[in-house]
Amino acid sequence: MCERLTIARPDDWHLHLRDGAMLSAVLAESARHFARALIMPNLLPPVVTAADARAYRERILAALPAGADFTPLMSLYLTEETDAEDVARAAGEGLIHAVKLYPAGATTNSASGVRDFDRVRGVIECMAEIGLPLCVHGEVTDPEVDIFDREAVFLERVLEPIRAATPGLRVVLEHVTTEEGVAYVREGGADIAATITAHHLSINRNHLLVGGIRPHYYCLPVAKRERHRRALVAAAISGEGRFFLGTDSAPHPDHAKESACGCAGCFTAPNALSILAEIFEREGALGRLEAFASLNGAAFYRLPVNGGRITLTRQPPEYPEKIETEQGAVTVFDPAIPLHWSVAE
Ligand code: NCD
Ligand code: ZN
Repeated sequence: MCERLTIARPDDWHLHLRDGAMLSAVLAESARHFARALIMPNLLPPVVTAADARAYRERILAALPAGADFTPLMSLYLTEETDAEDVARAAGEGLIHAVKLYPAGATTNSASGVRDFDRVRGVIECMAEIGLPLCVHGEVTDPEVDIFDREAVFLERVLEPIRAATPGLRVVLEHVTTEEGVAYVREGGADIAATITAHHLSINRNHLLVGGIRPHYYCLPVAKRERHRRALVAAAISGEGRFFLGTDSAPHPDHAKESACGCAGCFTAPNALSILAEIFEREGALGRLEAFASLNGAAFYRLPVNGGRITLTRQPPEYPEKIETEQGAVTVFDPAIPLHWSVAE
């Protein structure tokens, strides 16, 4: 049995760090294992302009523990008022690496997102020209569409028309959760990729709903049926360059999740790599963990692979059940399977 695995330091291509006291409380959890992360812009108010991104990046750097080796890669939040020139300039300077499309109302802090896709045409065309990826939260918000179908419907109704109208647009389907999403990305040519989270590789909708409602398993897109989880696992372990890790680690204080209207998000920064190693090992695919966690995303984002390396050892990981923050405790995601791999310090 394999006891140690050394891989290039991984990147997290979808991370929520929040701001202020929450940022200070959770940042070390990502910086410990990941060399870089694409930082999601859904703050309140959102990170819309280059100036917003520059200021947020400074706050992240200031909150880093001494000696940390972690580079935040910034993204902008696409609104109907976004200025294409500002986006192009920020990308040209290397300040931003993506623009994030949230359909208005689709998820946490998405009220400033896009309602009328025609109003963001100019920005999207500019992004296609300069090769800047559009990261999409792939769910429709039409109240008529069942929440379990919202990703599949988004592909047809929103994503396909945008891509058909914008040849060359590079797209990342964020936190893909369905068979349909995986198939769409697989058939989509060189300009499309998808991130996959550790939690969607671990749980299906039974974990969320059987035997009681479990708010710490509630996230968006919501976990689907087991056959969808299996499709995600197959994509993640395939080694195909178009699938890579984006944890979507999304901290919320327990009081906000354990509520009559609990908010969406799973906090996986402390154990994401242990979960991945477990799942890849179960599938006999540990040898492809590096592609998923450290190589494929860097290639898609046209960045060098990290120089540093991490070693995973076959030893149950130690991490707290909750992280204390000024806003209250944040529960670490429970993958519902025993974990046997830790990242050596
Ligand atoms: C994210 C959050 O809390 O910001 N929540 C989630 O369930 N994934 C937002 C998002 O990525 O959808
Ligand atoms: Zn997210």
